[in-house]
Amino acid sequence: MANAKPYVYVTRRFADSGIKALKTAGFTVDVYPEDKIIPRKELLKNVAGASAIIPLLTDQIDGDVLDAAGKDLKIVANYAVGFDNVDLDAAKKRGVAVTNTPHDKVNEAVAEHAFALMICLARRIAEADSFAKAKKYTHWSPTLLIGTDLYGKTLGIVGAGRIGSAVARRAVKGFGMKLVYADSRTNADLEKEFGAEQLDLEKLLEVSDFVSLHVPLLPSTRHLISTAEFAMMKKTAFLVNTARGPVVDEKALLRALKTKRIAGAGIDVFECEPAIDCDMTDNMELKSFPNVILTPHIASATIEAREAMSMVAADNILAVLSGKPPLNPAK
Ligand code: DGY
Repeated sequence: MANAKPYVYVTRRFADSGIKALKTAGFTVDVYPEDKIIPRKELLKNVAGASAIIPLLTDQIDGDVLDAAGKDLKIVANYAVGFDNVDLDAAKKRGVAVTNTPHDKVNEAVAEHAFALMICLARRIAEADSFAKAKKYTHWSPTLLIGTDLYGKTLGIVGAGRIGSAVARRAVKGFGMKLVYADSRTNADLEKEFGAEQLDLEKLLEVSDFVSLHVPLLPSTRHLISTAEFAMMKKTAFLVNTARGPVVDEKALLRALKTKRIAGAGIDVFECEPAIDCDMTDNMELKSFPNVILTPHIASATIEAREAMSMVAADNILAVLSGKPPLNPAK
């Protein structure tokens, strides 16, 4: 579609503020109207002539999509913090900027969700809810649904960036937990403010009662947690994944749960998303374990975070289309 005004193509409807800002700036904004993943064919057709694309993490943005957009394309402003759905090399070759949506509100929302999963696991909230709703609460019992404290326990943060640090703050300030972290970079703030100790991943897995993952999906982090890593964890430890599904080897997770290698898992992201199970090993499914809490990739799903993401995507487009450098280059 050739337009006199710069044309922005958005692959799904999302929080309004950013879209409004783009329209106010005089851009033609076209939003895929249905609440489903845009079929590839339509994506390729609809991006034609776009100066900017705002895709979601469910859209694969590769060389074909960039070429289908054509020579006016200046920026792909991914509506997500993660950008493993965008081929950065293909974009670079074509001189197209790629940006993501980091924001304090997103950090806090994801950190809250990681904590919600930890609390649910430790205090068996989902099991207790099903129990009470099934009218099984007939008498108080000192042994009913016994959980474990977070207080005094060790939290291992894998990936001590913005979101990992927001989780760390909650753990230490809010819950009196001890903190260890694994990251290729030393996080001096985390060490100074929260007494965190940097460990290699192996040691972290050995000492942690809760392990929370906050790394991007990269070739080096695919299956970062697999059979060998589960074998290093305490049998009483819980794993929480709000990062990206393939960071955990799901088959290995199923085996670890089946053999009680770990105490449980809180999973917001899945290896074969949106499928909850890639493939049912020995007829095991994540949903069959009472000590597993599953949520459908909603860690950043708060009004505040999603509005912030919308504005960050729009601000990046406004910057790039007015000849300025991107505010949040994906790297
Ligand atoms: C992200 O931002 O990467 C989340 O996974 C989706 O909002």
